[in-house]
Parts: sequence; structure tokens; C-alpha cells
Amino acid sequence: MTEHQDETRAAYDGVVDLYASMFADRLETHPFSRNMIGTFAELVRGTGNPRAADVGCGPGHLTAMLHDLGLDAFGLDLSPAMVGHAQRAHPALRFDAARMESLPVEDDALGGVLAHYSMIHTPPDELPALLAEQARVLAPAGLLLVSFFATDGPEPVRFDHKVAPAYSWPVGRFAESLTGAGLTEFARLIHDPASERGFLDAHLLARLP
Ligand SMILES: C[S@@+](CC[C@H](N)C(=O)[O-])C[C@H]1O[C@@H](n2cnc3c(N)ncnc32)[C@H](O)[C@@H]1O
Repeated sequence: MTEHQDETRAAYDGVVDLYASMFADRLETHPFSRNMIGTFAELVRGTGNPRAADVGCGPGHLTAMLHDLGLDAFGLDLSPAMVGHAQRAHPALRFDAARMESLPVEDDALGGVLAHYSMIHTPPDELPALLAEQARVLAPAGLLLVSFFATDGPEPVRFDHKVAPAYSWPVGRFAESLTGAGLTEFARLIHDPASERGFLDAHLLARLP
């Protein structure tokens, strides 16, 4: 585990109850994310392979949402405390402690990977390898939905996220990294959450050939 991953793990381990109380509403107050995840689930079902990973699943609310949307979903997270919470909250589903950079999943196995604001802590120079790892576990025609903070400038911007240092991305730069990992972006939704953070919210849907 790298130093920044260790820092991120420790930070999330320390905020589980607070995070869960703020975000475990299955996105009732986040209609853009909710609808993109609904579209993602429908498209994954359409591939005929409903097995899907929620990577960086946090308290597991979106893993449960994917399950409710008909997917054979499981959650993975760097933070053992998040995984423990998710497992207690959703005992019928499977959660494991794992790094997105090294997924405990065989090649070509999944119809979909959801990364909802879980790649935000990844230093920019590590993003290409991280995306290649998600592509490795997807079956042909498998889908990746990735959500992140977007910025207008030419370069990723490091900022002090409440839990751990994070990065916002020019959408085009993030999309180039998807292409580099062999994924084809085919839909994007970018919106202004009018939050104090001042960034846009971006959701990119990509698939393997
Ligand atoms: C902002 S939270 C998002 C949680 C959930 N996806 C959501 O949308 O509410 C980021 C989550 O990603 C996890 N995470 C960050 N880096 C990770 C990594 N390298 N591998 C696995 N999980 C990671 C954190 O532990 C945390 O639970």
C-alpha cells in the first residue's frame, strides 16, 4: 500500500459513522448520480452479465442500490471500517477490504464496475494504471461508470477534501485516460451542484469493445 493510500484508508476508517449518516440515503438528494447509476444498471443487465463491483463502496448504500436494480453486486473498499459498516448494514451482500489498484477479481469477469467518487483521491499519475485495472476485470462490452469532481482548467487540481486530499479533473483529461485503458466513453453528464466546493460533478460511462 502506498503512503497516500494508507493516509486515505486511515482517514475513512475514522469517519465511518459520520459518512454513513450523511450519504447512506441511496442518493435520494442526488438525482443526477441516481439516474446515471440507474442507466448504468440497465445497460449492465443488457450485457447479459449482471455481476458488478462497487469499487470504493464506502458504507455500501450504492452496492445495495445496484442489487435492488437487478445486479449481482458486491462492494470493495480500502477502509476495513467502511467494509465492516457495509457488511452490517447489508448482511445479504458481500463486501471485502481491497484496493482498487489490485482488485481481487479474475480477468474478464464483470458486466460492470461502479466507481462513485472513489477515484478522487488517486494522484493523477496513477490514474492510467487504476483505469487499466478496472478494464482488466470487465468482460467484453462490460461497463464502467465513474463519477468525480470536474474542473475547467487544463490540469487536475489537488484540493483539501474534508476526509483526505483529493483531485478534481478536466473532463477531457479524464476521458483520455479512459481511452488509454482501452475503454470507449459513450456518455457523460456534467452538472453544477452549486456546492461550496465550487467544482462541477462529472459522470462518465465507458465500455470495453
Ligand atoms: C468519497 S467516498 C465514496 C464512497 C461511495 N462510493 C459513495 O459514493 O458514497 C470514497 C471511498 O473510496 C474508498 N477508496 C479510496 N481510495 C481507494 C482505493 N485505492 N481502493 C479502494 N477504495 C478506495 C474510500 O475508503 C472511501 O470509502
